[in-house]
Amino acid sequence: AQGGDPLITEIQDWNRYLGDGVDAAPYGAPSEFEAQVVRRNVPWLTADPVSSINFTPLHELDGIITPNGLCFERHHGGVAIINPTEHRLMINGLVDTPLVFTMEDLKRFPRENRVYFLECAANTGMEWKGAQLNGCQFTHGMVHCVVYTGVPLRYLLEEAGVKTAGKWLLAEGADAAAMSRSIPMEKALDDCLVAFKMNGEALRPEQGYPLRLCVPGWEGNMWVKWLRRLEVGDQPWAQREETSKYTDLLADGKARRHTFVMDVKSVITSPSPQAPVTHGKGPLVISGIAWSGSGTIKRVDVTIDGGRNWHEARIDGPSLPKALHRFYLDINWDGSEMLLQSRAIDDQGLVQPTKNELRAARGGNSIYHNNGIQTWHVNTDGVVENVEVS
Ligand code: MTE
Ligand code: CO
Repeated sequence: AQGGDPLITEIQDWNRYLGDGVDAAPYGAPSEFEAQVVRRNVPWLTADPVSSINFTPLHELDGIITPNGLCFERHHGGVAIINPTEHRLMINGLVDTPLVFTMEDLKRFPRENRVYFLECAANTGMEWKGAQLNGCQFTHGMVHCVVYTGVPLRYLLEEAGVKTAGKWLLAEGADAAAMSRSIPMEKALDDCLVAFKMNGEALRPEQGYPLRLCVPGWEGNMWVKWLRRLEVGDQPWAQREETSKYTDLLADGKARRHTFVMDVKSVITSPSPQAPVTHGKGPLVISGIAWSGSGTIKRVDVTIDGGRNWHEARIDGPSLPKALHRFYLDINWDGSEMLLQSRAIDDQGLVQPTKNELRAARGGNSIYHNNGIQTWHVNTDGVVENVEVS
C-alpha cells in the first residue's frame, strides 16, 4: 500500500505504553483475543444442562494435550463440589481388609504420570444416520487428552487384598448421580490410575475434583469422577450405565454389552466447518488428531479427493499408547473443491472403517462407538461443510 503498512510504519499503543505488571492475573487466563476458544454445548441435544454434555473446541487446538479449561464435560447429575479434606475413598466387598483412604493417605502411595485420551462412547453418536452437526467440535469434541498424575489402582487393591473370587470392580462417584460402572479386575490391575492431578494442577471440579478413575483406552463413561467407592465382586453389577445406556442395539435386536475399548479413530480438525480456509490457494496445513484405545497410532492417511488418492500424513509430537496423536499433511492447494478425509491405523493393525462399513456391520440402531471416517467438503471459497460420500 502507498505509504506502507501502518502496523509497520507507526508506533502502536502496546509499543508506546507500559503494560500490566506481574500479578495482574495471579491465575492466568488466555488472551482476550482468544475468547472464541470455548467449550460449547448443543442445547437441543439434552433436556437439562445438569445431565448434559459440552464439547472440546478441537478446531482451535494443536499438539496432543487438551488445556484443562477446554476439556469437554459430561455430567449425569451436575458438578459435585467437594472439599478434599472431606473426601473419602472406600474399598469394600471381596477384600481381606476393607479400607477408607483420605486424600492425604492417597498422596503417600507411589504415583505415576501418564498421558491418556478420554473419549465418551457417545462421541460422533449423532452422525450414525448421516452428516448432522457442522463442526468437529460437535461431531468429535467428546474427547480430550491430558497428563494425569495418580496412584496405580493396583497398589490400592493390593493394600486391601483382593480375594480369589474378586473378578470385578464397581467404581462409584460421589456426585448426585452416584454414577457407577463395573470394571473387570484384569483391567483394574493393569493400567488404571486413581488420579488427583491433570496437566500438573489439581483436577478441575468438572473433571472430578478431587479424585477420578482413569481407565485408559476404554469408554469415557467408566472414568468415574468424584470417585468415592470401589467394591470388589465376583460378577458385573448391571448398573444403568451398562444396560440401558452404553450398550449397542444391533440389527437383529440383540445388544452388544461391555464394549469397553474405544476403537481406532481420527478426524481432520483444520480445515473443518468452524475453521474454514481464509487465505486462498497456495500452502495449506491440513491437521488433525488420531487415537486408539488399543495402543499407538502407526499411520494416518489423508485424502483431499474423497478417497480416490491417499497420502501418508506426518505424525508429529509424542506417540504414546492410548493418547491423542497429532498429524499434518502440508499441501499446495490449487483452489479447487476438496473432499477431506483421514483414516487411522493403529499398532495392532486395526484400520478406521468407513461409515458404510460400520453400518453394514452394526445396523442402524447404534448411538455409541462410531469411529467411521469423517468427510469435510471444502468449496472454492474455502467454506467447509460436514458431508458424507458413499
Ligand atoms: N463420573 C461421575 N461420577 N458422574 C458422571 O456423570 N460421566 C461419565 C464419566 N464419569 C460421569 C462420570 C461420562 S459419560 C464421561 S464421557 C466422562 O466422565 C466425561 O469426563 P469429563 O467430564 O472429564 O470429560
Ligand atoms: Co460419556
